Amino acid sequence: MTQTIGIGVIGMGWMGLVHSRAYRVIEDRFSDSGMRPRLVACADDVESRAEQGKRRMGFEQATTAWQQVIQNPDVQVVNVTTPNVFHLPMVTAAVAAGKHVFCEKPVGRSPHETATIAAAARVAGVISGVGYNYRWAPLVQYARQLISSGKLGQITHYRGRFLVGYGSHPDSVLSWRFQREVAGTGALGDLMSHVVDMAHMLAGPVEQVVSQQKTFIASRPQATPGEGTHFSVNAAGPRATVTNEDYVSALARFESGAQGTFEVCRIINGPRCEMAFEVNATHGALKWNFERMNEIELVLSDDRSQPHPGSAVIQVGPEHPGYAHFYPGPGNSMSYEDLKALEMYHFLRRVTENAAGAPGLEDALAVAEVLAAMQQSWESGNWQGVQPLPVSS
Ligand SMILES: NC(=O)c1ccc[n+]([C@@H]2O[C@H](COP(=O)([O-])OP(=O)(O)OC[C@H]3O[C@@H](n4cnc5c(N)ncnc54)[C@H](O)[C@@H]3O)[C@@H](O)[C@H]2O)c1
Repeated sequence: MTQTIGIGVIGMGWMGLVHSRAYRVIEDRFSDSGMRPRLVACADDVESRAEQGKRRMGFEQATTAWQQVIQNPDVQVVNVTTPNVFHLPMVTAAVAAGKHVFCEKPVGRSPHETATIAAAARVAGVISGVGYNYRWAPLVQYARQLISSGKLGQITHYRGRFLVGYGSHPDSVLSWRFQREVAGTGALGDLMSHVVDMAHMLAGPVEQVVSQQKTFIASRPQATPGEGTHFSVNAAGPRATVTNEDYVSALARFESGAQGTFEVCRIINGPRCEMAFEVNATHGALKWNFERMNEIELVLSDDRSQPHPGSAVIQVGPEHPGYAHFYPGPGNSMSYEDLKALEMYHFLRRVTENAAGAPGLEDALAVAEVLAAMQQSWESGNWQGVQPLPVSS
């Protein structure tokens, strides 16, 4: 029996379009799932973007008033893909109305806002999802299986990084991501949130961190409201100050005893979208990089009395979780948007089964606790323990 799920999307920029497309392909890619997402309503405060949701994506209604999406009785799932400043009011209003929510990372502007949002969803008892899409790469799930089955042994070292250059040009515009009042933190929320979530999934909870941050480019040309993306470059016009950080790095100690390093940057030259991890363990090692997401480097040494076997590059194939929904045979490259389709499928499945599961707002809260410890370390210059975050009422 097919179950129809009414979807409302708020924020029809890059992610709004990507999420809408992901909902649209579920009936096709996951044809035996019995789920039929219905694109009921979309909102954007820029009217042309809201209308584009209707015209290009096939939403039944488009509005510039986001509250109308939440109030629509046919909407069961509210998908928040706006700049971070709106995550708190939009998600809390949606869960108060009893809607299930999918919120993009970093979930609010600060760890404190993430904690407040997670608490509101917990009280409302709704199902939540968060945009930690790199989890869903079939070879990342394969890495997770190798670790959780014990095949790799005990993790000794974990290195996570997300290195991108969307702000590397000095005339890359001052989009909302560079403004503290709209984005909150910079590279910490934007990039480190993905890195810490991946580390949690693969290596378990982080216990302590010591961290540093830096802003390399102090001012940028102002962006034209409602136009362009955070990749836009425009040397013309007045410049304004960048009010959050370009770079964050940290040393980490995991609860398991593993030792870690994390590094993220949005202005780096060289890497293009290097969301990557390296794991070393007592019986093997793994290396994965999103820039080459369809392969993983693996060392497995079950018999430690034999010489180290060296590493092998494994190509993605139908034996890896999620892949068979896209291709029948191995070695066909999947893309970023395929990860978003897998992400929405797993989220909607949890909605239809009324099952908590991951990644949801509780996982975002666990990430936020680590990010808060990093921020405390910037102030203190010392190691900081990862602590529960207080919630304001
Ligand atoms: N998981 C990922 O890989 C990933 C990638 C990019 C962005 N993100 C996250 O997604 C979110 C959106 O990022 P983006 O790159 O799509 O940004 P964007 O600037 O491209 O889009 C945001 C949209 O929200 C609209 N908007 C702003 N205020 C609004 C309001 N009050 N009501 C309705 N709409 C409003 C804007 O007009 C814009 O169209 C951010 O939280 C970001 O961190 C996640």
